[in-house]
Amino acid sequence: MHRLVASDRGARYPYAEVHAFVQQVAQYEGVAPAQIVLGVGSGELLETLGVHCGLKGGEALYAAPGYLQLPRAFEAMGGRARAVPLNARLEHDLPAMAAQVGAGTSVVYVANPHNPTGTVVDPAALRAFVADVAGRTTLLVDEAYLEIVDDAARRSVVDLVRDDRRLIVARTFSKIHGLAGLRIGYFVTPAPLAAELRRYSVGGVSAPAVAAAAASLADEAFVKATRARIMAERARVTAVLRELGRTYAEPQGNFVFFHAGRPQAEIAARMQAEGVAVARAFPPLLDWVRITVGLPDENTRAIAALRRVLA
Ligand SMILES: Cc1ncc(COP(=O)(O)O)c(C=O)c1O
Repeated sequence: MHRLVASDRGARYPYAEVHAFVQQVAQYEGVAPAQIVLGVGSGELLETLGVHCGLKGGEALYAAPGYLQLPRAFEAMGGRARAVPLNARLEHDLPAMAAQVGAGTSVVYVANPHNPTGTVVDPAALRAFVADVAGRTTLLVDEAYLEIVDDAARRSVVDLVRDDRRLIVARTFSKIHGLAGLRIGYFVTPAPLAAELRRYSVGGVSAPAVAAAAASLADEAFVKATRARIMAERARVTAVLRELGRTYAEPQGNFVFFHAGRPQAEIAARMQAEGVAVARAFPPLLDWVRITVGLPDENTRAIAALRRVLA
């Protein structure tokens, strides 16, 4: 049914669908529709925020190694993006980040779980960080992989969004919902900040993306089953890494970041020769590799390749 809706409606602008979808998302998040900003993937919104804040100048703080869409857009607009190294557990170093927030800080970016490490931060420490930092500057907490973590309800900070804080929570349909190719995501933020950000948004979501996202958001059983499948496949990857004596960051997403002990470029080339693509290098951790959990038979091939390449 949803396939029909999407293809039938492709000839028209999806105003009515978008309106209904924003209501659905707001209800799901327990916020007002005016607090939702839709984007062509959450990536478009990260760039929108990077542009918006970058135009004001100053600094963006982000964790390194990390996901660069926001810092890069911020720098393209003339701001300076400052990387704060992850701690020894490859988690965000929240005390170090908070200590660097000053009058010149335009935006702070925390991904929880993080990409590329898959690690999460302590929930109580994150809540204290939000209360502190989002009162002083704009704080983006990117929860792209939240639904995959062990205890999502305890780890989300969406309930901390309120009018006296410049807190933004980012979500996407690209991960647990499996809709990366359709491109749709959203921000939850106070209504005035949402209105500000909409002015800078350059995209517009498509009717098929809205139809698919609406169906998936309403399908709790699908989301639960997908999570179980990701966990089972991820466990196969971590088991082989343990067997091969490799250490890895505590994974809470749909990928594993492991210590290869050899340059990422070498591992990537050898895996590519086996028909398996791994993620790009994440400086400064150049002998670590991120591998994404695939479908069961893709994973079987990836695991066999890992055995040969890491042996
Ligand atoms: C942490 C994080 N945020 C945001 C995104 C962007 O995802 P999308 O634009 O598909 O919503 C990604 C994609 O890999 C990601 O890893």
